[in-house]
Amino acid sequence: MIVCVCNRVSDRDIQRLAAQGCDSFEALQFETGTATCCGRCESCARETLAAACADEATRHAARHIPLVTA
Ligand code: FES
Repeated sequence: MIVCVCNRVSDRDIQRLAAQGCDSFEALQFETGTATCCGRCESCARETLAAACADEATRHAARHIPLVTA
């Protein structure tokens, strides 16, 4: 899904950037230009980034939970 039409930024672009450590809206804007033209995508972009960061945090935590063996 395209999130920012003006800059052709998709939800996959945002998810990929979140996986690479992009964890703020300002960083997303710097990397992609999201919400720097008409601004109509800002709320959707913020929600998409927040969800992507939450998913990434869950994945990161799952990789670092020690296995308990009896
Ligand atoms: S749709 Fe993103 S700035 Fe216009």
